[in-house]
Amino acid sequence: MRHLPTRTTRRRVVGALTAGLLGALGLTGTWELAGPVPAAGAATPATSVPATSVSAGRAPTDGLALTPPMGFNNWNSTHCRAEFDEAMVKGIADIFVDKGLKDAGYEYVNLDDCWALPARDADGKLVPDPARFPGGIKAVADYVHAKGLKLGIYTSAGTKTCNDAGFPGALGHEYSDAQQFADWGVDYLKYDNCNNQGVDARQRYTTMRDALKAASQATGRPIVYSICEWGENKPWEWAADVGQLWRTTGDISDNWGSMLSIMKQNLPLARYAGPGRWNDPDMLEVGNGGMTDTEYRTHFSMWSIMAAPLLIGSDLRSASEKTFTVIGNKEVIAVDQDPLGKQGEVLSSEGGRWVVAKEMKDGSRAVALFNESGSPQRIATSAQAVGLPDADAYTLRDLWQHKSYNTAGTISATVPAHGTVLVRVSADGRWAGNPPAVELGVEGSTLTEAGKATALATSVTDLGRTPAKRVSVSVTGPSGWKVKADSPTTAGSLPTGRALRTKWTVTAPAGTPPGAYDVTLKAVYRSPGGVRAESVLPLTATVAVAPPSGTSNLGALPWLSTTNGWGPVERDTSNGESAAGDGGPLTINGAVYATGLGVHAESNVEYYTGGACESVGAQVGVDDEEGADGSVAFEIWADGTKVASTGVLTNADAARALVADVSGARVVRLVVTDGGDGITSDHGDWAAAQLTC
Ligand code: GLA
Repeated sequence: MRHLPTRTTRRRVVGALTAGLLGALGLTGTWELAGPVPAAGAATPATSVPATSVSAGRAPTDGLALTPPMGFNNWNSTHCRAEFDEAMVKGIADIFVDKGLKDAGYEYVNLDDCWALPARDADGKLVPDPARFPGGIKAVADYVHAKGLKLGIYTSAGTKTCNDAGFPGALGHEYSDAQQFADWGVDYLKYDNCNNQGVDARQRYTTMRDALKAASQATGRPIVYSICEWGENKPWEWAADVGQLWRTTGDISDNWGSMLSIMKQNLPLARYAGPGRWNDPDMLEVGNGGMTDTEYRTHFSMWSIMAAPLLIGSDLRSASEKTFTVIGNKEVIAVDQDPLGKQGEVLSSEGGRWVVAKEMKDGSRAVALFNESGSPQRIATSAQAVGLPDADAYTLRDLWQHKSYNTAGTISATVPAHGTVLVRVSADGRWAGNPPAVELGVEGSTLTEAGKATALATSVTDLGRTPAKRVSVSVTGPSGWKVKADSPTTAGSLPTGRALRTKWTVTAPAGTPPGAYDVTLKAVYRSPGGVRAESVLPLTATVAVAPPSGTSNLGALPWLSTTNGWGPVERDTSNGESAAGDGGPLTINGAVYATGLGVHAESNVEYYTGGACESVGAQVGVDDEEGADGSVAFEIWADGTKVASTGVLTNADAARALVADVSGARVVRLVVTDGGDGITSDHGDWAAAQLTC
């Protein structure tokens, strides 16, 4: 959310996701390797090496946070609810030790807002809430320290913290509050921005820096200083000698749209990060339930390649083993914690296919192939493009599969919707001990109608320097589905760059209800030395409702999938707030419409048109319901092609007629972007939207 000194404007900046059928892919994809030239349709590799960081500001002299801080903060899981208390904090510290998270690097156990009473005592001192912390903060710090961990606390660089109950902030009390924190044994301060009285941010944050320095010098216990002014004053430009980390964005929420929007704001700031000065895209949501496992792996992969602080935000006392598997992945954590301290740089991003590369201290590169889109995508780069020296071949380590392969230079994978393939690639001369990487590919559509045969083509390509031997490929669907191979499924030997291509016919039984179904593509092969290897690509087959004939209101048709930046997409009303069905009449610049869709940037609404439709048309614009701050752009996509767009529209604009020819498209996608300035107040209307088939 966006935070202003008053709280009245705090709303609707977080995203929500209506899980889409197409977005429901399962596991991470396979990566591949291959010859030097990525196939057509692959992301364009950058020609240059990830740039050297031009780190602003001082070299770190205090030795604090030389790698991004790791730990826990209660906020994302509890906000100010009563379960945020001493038992929780101690419980998390216990789990850090018992579950191996401390060994994995998690160190800080941090308290967020609402730990104090609303009033200071007669001496102006902060008073811990006795209902939450009956033994006080020092007792909690002692407990945490006894486990070899550290304690963090929170207050605001304003007169009150952000919670409406109005807990005391430190503005004007900096030295006394810092002294209290130091006396309690606090090791980390998150310093928020609410109720700041319009006092200059630099001044407010620098005063607390000096107060912390003075207080911690007296106790000998250094305090990591986390600046939380939501990126409002571009702290990356001035805070390198103020704190060790600074928030770059508003608050994260536990949904895909929010996480994605924050990631996109934080990625371009790579050059400001370095040891002791980190961009902070906010705390982790992994395990809180609002994203799929695939999306949480993307969240954790991307935070790690961005060298972001890793502050667990879910209540580990009730976390699933899946959550522990994600946050405890030491190979991914090693990317985040690499001592060189570089934030990964975007090498390419096109059509939702992102390549981000991070230079590592040992000369290797961590590479994230991230698929923002709602369908599987081939994403490719090369050892050369990520900055590795020329070599015969490279070791390619898959950091989620925990397997090593050899590649002749291509780094590529078919990545499931919303998924990330995270690899570490080295020119280490040890590649020959690993089996060749193979890339699994799929062409044709996994979108089908019940009872209708759908053609699919698969490929298994050897990306290694060594050949893949005794290759066999299979496609498996749900029980009752017919999967027929129409060409060979085996190959004796695939040398570098060669592929086994197979045609298939897949048929869901007549009467299969619309929905998403798991289909798995799998290749089994041997290295030249006879070692068995396999590669699996999980796919989602979507059974869609047949397209209508004639002209239909899009507000009334079933959609394939939606994503939306604030609450769900609404039919025939504006977006409203975050609840379903809470919109008003669709209204653009005073004109009211009876039918259409009300959405919030960033938004995607997909319809199955099965090649049977001709055109889409709508009156589009920013809905009047949120005042004057909205700015969005509308786009219509036919399969992978943008066929119409508006450019940026604001509340000042009247409705614009947007019409597109969608002949032959199997899927039509209506997109609303944030107009380039974040999603605040971006309520978009597809008014009187119609599809003609
Ligand atoms: C702000 C911060 C959040 C959280 C809350 C607590 O919104 O950005 O991270 O600390 O305040 O009220």
